[in-house]
Amino acid sequence: MSGLANRKILLGVTGGIACYKSAVLLRALQEAGAELRVVMTPAAQAFVTPLTFQALSGHDVYTELLDPSQEAAMDHISLARWADLVLIAPASADFMARIANGMANDLLSTLCLATESQVVLAPAMNRVMWLNPATQDNLQRLLARGYLCWGPDEGEQACGESGPGRMLEPEALCQQAVSHFGNGVLDGVNVLMTAGSTREPIDPVRFVGNRSSGKMGYALAQSMRDLGADVTLISGPTSLAAPAKIVSIRVETAEEMHASVMEHVDSCDIFVAVAAVADYRPSLVAADKIKKNKEILTLELVRNPDILAEVAAMEHPPFTVGFAAETEQIEHYADEKRRRKRLNMIAANRVGSDEGGFESEQNALILLWQDAREELPMMAKSQLAQRLAERIAEQYNASI
Ligand code: PMT
Repeated sequence: MSGLANRKILLGVTGGIACYKSAVLLRALQEAGAELRVVMTPAAQAFVTPLTFQALSGHDVYTELLDPSQEAAMDHISLARWADLVLIAPASADFMARIANGMANDLLSTLCLATESQVVLAPAMNRVMWLNPATQDNLQRLLARGYLCWGPDEGEQACGESGPGRMLEPEALCQQAVSHFGNGVLDGVNVLMTAGSTREPIDPVRFVGNRSSGKMGYALAQSMRDLGADVTLISGPTSLAAPAKIVSIRVETAEEMHASVMEHVDSCDIFVAVAAVADYRPSLVAADKIKKNKEILTLELVRNPDILAEVAAMEHPPFTVGFAAETEQIEHYADEKRRRKRLNMIAANRVGSDEGGFESEQNALILLWQDAREELPMMAKSQLAQRLAERIAEQYNASI
């Protein structure tokens, strides 16, 4: 199997009998072309020695958070940044509980806090421990934060019982890693994206804005990057840190976002507009803070440029994907937008409800493209972004 060439995978090994399979997993990932570094928890070392992984990987195995010799080789922050993917296999119940609570009491849990890369869990534990509400609760918290979970499998367990909790076999985990990176289906493809909201100033302290947090757009930027794309993300104000290994440009207003997109659009192959751009801005921005001495204050608003429509109307437009935020008749209005703006694809979502849309950790989408549709049900935005990125890549590649 190939498909992980140039991918840097940090294999985290926690304490469980499935540790012995991690050595086979390491070999499978290497054979698929990945570069590996291994981090073991103290409990993992009770099952398999670091020497096994050192011999197989050809690199020192990282075990200690505060070991000066290891920190000198590559400190834990550099290690967290080095990885394209952090794969915890096996992920024990204890480890999941610790990271669900944000603990950083060994090297591996600290790395999970310090990395901006995708963290994937491959759980392995007794079936009762897996089904225990505490473990399931921890899992849900981690999924909501963007972690992925591959497995577990069902079947006979080391303890002699049978049920869910077996770690996925190394070949299956390796296959998941290959699909995660999409075989580099967007290698060398330039993707330009917008995300977040825009702020349209009223005076030096107030603005017209909206509730977009940037979560959907940032997750999609990360997934497009994971498929091999060179991503430039133009983002309105957000508290989110830019995903690693992309070009991040921060803007404030719709006009700034418009100018930045127009500056970069000529060199892009795919344009994805996730931003909730303010459709209107105040026609005048007061130089000083407006005093509240009137009962009624009227703001005059003027139209902002429609960035997405302008890109799609270019003489040689990139493959153009829009989003549609609707409160009713979602598919109908989204399809109307897709046709009117001549988009290659549109991703429609419901906003204004309790679940999904703005700010939420989860979302659901209806994807529409020429004579086709696909529904992606409610799931963590990180997972949804992965599915959407795969579909965009497939349709883009079919269009060239
Ligand atoms: O950021 P989150 O909190 O995670 O929330 C995600 C989201 C709900 C913001 C996202 O999933 C979403 O729906 N983004 C599009 C929001 C929007 O503005 O939709 P719209 O239907 O009003 O606009 C249609 C399309 O035109 C969008 O692709 C938008 O980026 C684009 N547009 C709109 C106006 C404008 N002046 N310029 C644009 O480019």
